[in-house]
Amino acid sequence: MRVDVGDLRGVVALDGPSGTGKSTVARRVAVLLGASYLDTGAMYRAVTLAVLRAGADPADAARVIPIAEAVDLRVGTDPGHPAVHLDGEDVAREIRGPAVTRAVSAVSAIPRVRELLVDRQRAIIEQERARHRGIVVEGRDIGTVVAPDAALKVFLTASSDARALRRSRQDVAEGRLSTVDAARRDVDRRDRLDSSRAASPLRAADDAVLVDTTELDLAGVTALLMSIVDERGLRGVAAERTGR
Ligand code: DC
Repeated sequence: MRVDVGDLRGVVALDGPSGTGKSTVARRVAVLLGASYLDTGAMYRAVTLAVLRAGADPADAARVIPIAEAVDLRVGTDPGHPAVHLDGEDVAREIRGPAVTRAVSAVSAIPRVRELLVDRQRAIIEQERARHRGIVVEGRDIGTVVAPDAALKVFLTASSDARALRRSRQDVAEGRLSTVDAARRDVDRRDRLDSSRAASPLRAADDAVLVDTTELDLAGVTALLMSIVDERGLRGVAAERTGR
C-alpha cells in the first residue's frame, strides 16, 4: 500500500559547493521519494535581491540586517516547482542572475542573517515533519547547523574543472552569457568566501557521506543517493512492509 505522505522518513541533508549538481540531484531525489524539498541557497539569494533592490551595500551588516528582518520571503517545498516569492513577486529566475550571484556570499556571511534564515529553515522542516513528510534540504550548513540530526547527510564534491563546466552549461541553458573560465572564477571565488567565513562555513559534517561527482552524471549521482537512502532504511513504505 502506498501512503500519500511520501516514502522518505526524516531529513536528508545535501551540502556542498556550487557546480556539484546538488540542486538538480536534491530535487530529483525528493521527487523519487515523494518528499518535500528546501533550497536554502534560494533563501540567501532572495534576501540578497532585497538588499540590492534597496540600494544597500551587501557587506554593510547595519543596512542588511533590518532588510533581512523585514523581508517578506516565501519559499515553496514542492520539488517539481520550487517557488520563491519576495513581496509576493515570483523571483525564482532573478535570484539566479549575475548581480545576486556576485553579492550573495557577502550577505550570507553576516551571522544575524544566517540566524534569521536558519530559524526559518528549521520551522519549514518542522512543518513538513508535522505533516509526516520527509524532506530533502540542500545548502552549505544543513548537516552541520540547520539539521544536525538529519537521518542522512551527504556532502557532494567535484573537481574545480567539472564544477566550472557544469555551472557554465547551466547558465547558457538558462539564457545567461557564460564562458567556462568566467564560471570557474565565479565558482572558485564563492567557494573561497563560503568556506572561509567565520559563521557556519561550508564544510562536511563528520558523519556525512562524501560523494565525488566528478566522474558521475546526474543519473549516476541520483542512483547512488537512492541506494544510500535504501541502505539506511529511510523509506517509510519499505520500512512498513518489512515491519520496521
Ligand atoms: O546554492 P546556491 O549557489 O544557490 O547558494 C547561494 C549562496 O548562498 C552560496 O554562495 C552560499 C550561500 N548559502 C549559505 O551560505 N548557506 C546555505 N545553507 C545555502 C547557501
